Amino acid sequence: MSNKQLCVRPVRDDDLADVAAIHHHYVENTLICVPELERTATQWQEFTDDLRVRGLPFLVAERQQLLGYAYVHPWKPGPSFRHTGEVTIYLAPGHTDHRIGQALLEPLLAASQEAGISQLIGAVAETAAAPRTSAFCQKYAFEECGLLQKVAHRDGQWIDLRLFQRQLAPPSGSDT
Ligand SMILES: CC(C)(COP(=O)(O)OP(=O)(O)OC[C@H]1O[C@@H](n2cnc3c(N)ncnc32)[C@H](O)[C@@H]1OP(=O)(O)O)[C@@H](O)C(=O)NCCC(=O)NCCS
Repeated sequence: MSNKQLCVRPVRDDDLADVAAIHHHYVENTLICVPELERTATQWQEFTDDLRVRGLPFLVAERQQLLGYAYVHPWKPGPSFRHTGEVTIYLAPGHTDHRIGQALLEPLLAASQEAGISQLIGAVAETAAAPRTSAFCQKYAFEECGLLQKVAHRDGQWIDLRLFQRQLAPPSGSDT
């Protein structure tokens, strides 16, 4: 499939129902969504507004319809962690393996750097889909840095999280 007409752009408020539908698919059908479960429309709006206030990127990919989304959210609360973000990318079912993840990740990395993020974390739940997601992380220079065992519990199962880290250029100038 060609990415020719694929448009990657910042999320708009009127995308959030489609974003929620993609997210819902993975919550319903997989165990990869940890820690976040369903968000209401209001919670998606609040979450998006919070990323905007922080200047963190939230992008969508569309070709006639919304095919995926990616954002960087604070890795941990607290000012000491302000230069560290966590990446989340989800593609609509049936649209994986067509470079849409790549099309979202590349501008996400650039926008993260512009936002003053110098470390990006990827946390991959160890499920059947993990080898693909881990390969995706490694392709984009996220180095594997450990396995947290049984840190999540969903639907009667303990889930391990494999952590990846990618260093971006440190923020220039004074440490704001
Ligand atoms: C993980 C995900 C974002 C990757 O996006 P994608 O569009 O499917 O991946 P791309 O087509 O851009 O592939 C880029 C690279 O990822 C790796 N990759 C992607 N699919 C792969 C697969 N099935 N097997 C092995 N490696 C794979 C490869 O390194 C590939 O590059 P290459 O083909 O040159 O080797 C997407 O598959 C997805 O949304 N999966 C379900 C949700 C999910 O797990 N999200 C991550 C949680 S944060």
